[in-house]
Amino acid sequence: MNMTPSTQADTGRLAPDEAGIAQAASRLAAGGLVAFPTETVYGLGADGRDGRAVAALYAAKGRPSFNPLIAHVAGMDAARAEGVFAPVAMRLAEAFWPGPLTLVVPRQADGTVCDLARAGLDSVGLRMPSHPVARDLLRRAGFPVVAPSANLSGRISPTSPEDVLADLDGIIDAVVMGGRTEVGVESTIVAILDGEPSLLRPGGVPREAIEALLGRPLASGRDAGETPIAPGALLSHYAPRATVRLEAKVIRPGEAALLFGSVPPAGLEVAAASRDLSPGGDLAEAAANLFGHLRALDASGATSIAVVPIPDHGLGEAINDRLRRAAAER
Ligand code: TXA
Ligand code: MG
Repeated sequence: MNMTPSTQADTGRLAPDEAGIAQAASRLAAGGLVAFPTETVYGLGADGRDGRAVAALYAAKGRPSFNPLIAHVAGMDAARAEGVFAPVAMRLAEAFWPGPLTLVVPRQADGTVCDLARAGLDSVGLRMPSHPVARDLLRRAGFPVVAPSANLSGRISPTSPEDVLADLDGIIDAVVMGGRTEVGVESTIVAILDGEPSLLRPGGVPREAIEALLGRPLASGRDAGETPIAPGALLSHYAPRATVRLEAKVIRPGEAALLFGSVPPAGLEVAAASRDLSPGGDLAEAAANLFGHLRALDASGATSIAVVPIPDHGLGEAINDRLRRAAAER
């Protein structure tokens, strides 16, 4: 078993079937680190109750600081054992779970998610994923599994087992080989700490869907002007090696081009490489392709990735958020 990134681990490839998932659950229970598919991105899981496993997880990712982690649970009972659900939190859970929504709520005094996983906060981030492999794994584990995206800190989030292995092969205990993820961007994070829900991170559930349920606009946790409560919401969190140039109307010679929709930008013929997020202009398809296309364009060796304008509604809000972070100065 691997406890520090300096220890070579023989990273197991587990099939997404009963035997593979059983293996994954027992490795987690033994304090191991196991990457697994969720509907958003691959998560790097550890037993959320186990401070040593969580410390090993931070070390494996090379995280510069101890950001609070999302605890993944199989059902509502497990969620309520960890967090205090105000009526509005219950409504959001009922409407969007299982699915790509994380709720940050006050922790239960006798909750089991350890201090380190919560970065010492009195709140806990909870999510019930909908991916069948994740659901089976969580049911089998029977404890909250904390899981950040299964990439090295500062790298692009993984949407396939191959992406996970590109960053973490030899560092983690195992990967459940569950194919490509469907949503492609991480969960939407909403905090419900003192009544009014606020959006900490746009993601796989569009803001509009949450606002329709609440019947009012969602406050934004990032507009508060103070330290963001979600440290993962910091800029420069999704960095390709190439610089990223947003709102590109013209592709410059030698740039890699990230496209959206059917109208080709000027200069496309001199691009070093190009990928279209969705030729038909579908934002859900674009979200699913975002990180994979960024990785592919980065691998082309171009020093700049030009990104055409992308609509900012629906899943476009999460896509543009991740692109702004990829483009941030670092
Ligand atoms: O879709 C996802 O959310 C994926 C999959 C694996 O579930 N996970 C993911 O985890 O994106 P990560 O660690 O990359 O991002 C988790 C975010 C961080 O920004 C963290 O600060 C925030 O959740 N978070 C977790 N608990 C929190 C808390 N108690 N208060 C504020 N923010 C919290
Ligand atoms: Mg991440």
